[in-house]
Amino acid sequence: MQKARFITFEGGEGAGKSTQIALLADYLQKNGIDVVCTREPGGSAGAEEIRNLLVRGGNARWDRLTELLLFSAARRDHLVKTILPALNAGKTVLSDRFNDSTVAYQCFGYGFDETIYQQVNHLYRLIAGDFVPDLTFILDIDPLIGLKRSMKRQGNDEQRFENMDLSFHKNLRDGFLKLASENPQRYAVINADQETEKIHQDIVTTLRERLK
Ligand code: TMP
Repeated sequence: MQKARFITFEGGEGAGKSTQIALLADYLQKNGIDVVCTREPGGSAGAEEIRNLLVRGGNARWDRLTELLLFSAARRDHLVKTILPALNAGKTVLSDRFNDSTVAYQCFGYGFDETIYQQVNHLYRLIAGDFVPDLTFILDIDPLIGLKRSMKRQGNDEQRFENMDLSFHKNLRDGFLKLASENPQRYAVINADQETEKIHQDIVTTLRERLK
């Protein structure tokens, strides 16, 4: 892997993305690659402020379009302040979530809606043009297992989406898997219901195969 890459990690709640990002960052750094780790919503000062509006409060705090606009505004700030400058400086960027989370959560989670799907695609093009991740790992796990893990872990109040009902979480998992099946070149589905080290090995093996 030579040139700067943009690699995203996606999945439902409790899939272990942040652990895997830290392990991969360590691996890449040991191999001489400069890495920036970031996350969505957030990843820049402004986007972290918007994050607070999105991950806290009641389930029905925002209507679907307002929620989508907030995620898009946060993403735009993250892109121009953090992701693009890092890539331009030759650094590989590992992001904990990106636009595929919007497709999975905002389009599929609430029940697929063609109008929202078109709006998501339109907004993404508006804020990012034809910029897309070089590779996206989907850490796939049964939502019952993932939710149990994430509820145990979180001592904070960022649980607006965890609190959605189980069908929401099943829908978004199906959404991620649908994205992956439609574009297997960009996505790699990783079984996240395994030991941490085995998941890391699967990620490294895939990375080496895909981004030679
Ligand atoms: P995190 O818990 O992985 O940090 O993500 C915060 C929450 O925001 C998580 O429940 C997923 C949700 N989310 C969306 O609904 N849409 C998005 O576009 C993103 C980036 C996150």
